[in-house]
Amino acid sequence: MSFIQANDLVKTYSANKRIVKALDGLSLDVPKGTVKGLLGPNGAGKTTTVKVLTTLIKPDSGRATIDGVDVLKEPETIKRMIGVSGQYAAVDQKLTGYENLEMVGRLYHLGAKRAKQRATELIEMFDLVEAANRPVKGFSGGMRRRIDLAGALVINPPVLFLDEPTTGLDPRSRLGLWKVIKDLVSDGTTVLLTTQYLEEADQLADSIAVIDQGKVIAEGTADELKLQIGGQRVELSLVRLEDVEKGMSLLAGMAQGDVSVGNDGRTISAPVDNAASTLQQALKTFAEESIELNDAGMRRPTLDDVFMELTGHKTEDVSA
Ligand SMILES: Nc1ncnc2c1ncn2[C@@H]1O[C@H](COP(=O)(O)OP(=O)(O)O)[C@@H](O)[C@H]1O
Ligand SMILES: [Mg+2]
Repeated sequence: MSFIQANDLVKTYSANKRIVKALDGLSLDVPKGTVKGLLGPNGAGKTTTVKVLTTLIKPDSGRATIDGVDVLKEPETIKRMIGVSGQYAAVDQKLTGYENLEMVGRLYHLGAKRAKQRATELIEMFDLVEAANRPVKGFSGGMRRRIDLAGALVINPPVLFLDEPTTGLDPRSRLGLWKVIKDLVSDGTTVLLTTQYLEEADQLADSIAVIDQGKVIAEGTADELKLQIGGQRVELSLVRLEDVEKGMSLLAGMAQGDVSVGNDGRTISAPVDNAASTLQQALKTFAEESIELNDAGMRRPTLDDVFMELTGHKTEDVSA
């Protein structure tokens, strides 16, 4: 059964005499106890979606419910059901990590004793014990995200909104935060998570909705989306341009889809089933045929590949 439901949301902004359709008929369904990844580049409408669903802004039209409660008609009820973490969530830089969490508890009317207790629990759970008594302004990026996330959990909400939880973090902090989020969602919380990273959606979400210009343009599990765009790719860069045609036909024989040529005219790539073994096979075959290579490798599809395939334009074009 669907727990978070959005139907045909529209939100327009006018900025500098230009009308921007931040949401252009966006619909979403998140079944209870699952994690939905909202994947899209900068400007796609991710934050606007989260803001509508968390009652921070009103859409021009459309409808949204959480557990059957109308988001537009009963915002106060919704606020008690949800936790929100994102760039705009309130963290006071001057207060310590502990004080911030305690303050959130008081805002939710937990009572002084319970608010203190909950702050202590969350500090331990998020591995922030050493930082708990320092002002947040001295925190590292990763620690800030943790305290922000912890703030969303103060009341143990059945629904959690995480807006780009790891954007801007270094790879190590990102891994750490993924682990925290995974632990969190393994106990049946319903989560809507937005991200610009296909890999993040892949790691954390049960199902992914790809959004572009305020609309959902594709939906499925990470595997389904990757299959749709051809899974892993093998990429080979040839030394001699005159070998490209022959190289393409050789690679086509090992690939699961069309072979494409890069802008440089000499890098050929194709989606394959088993990248490691196909790459080995390709290296052997190309050597036997005396086709020299500059470079050879395998790579996972990126958000750019997904976008290119689904929309025919690159992700950068969207916000431009
Ligand atoms: N307050 C606002 N005023 C004008 N335009 C806005 C406002 N908020 C968002 N937008 C525009 O709406 C579009 C979607 O923005 P947003 O939902 O923040 O995207 P995302 O979170 O996916 O990066 C963008 O083109 C953005 O510039
Ligand atoms: Mg955003």
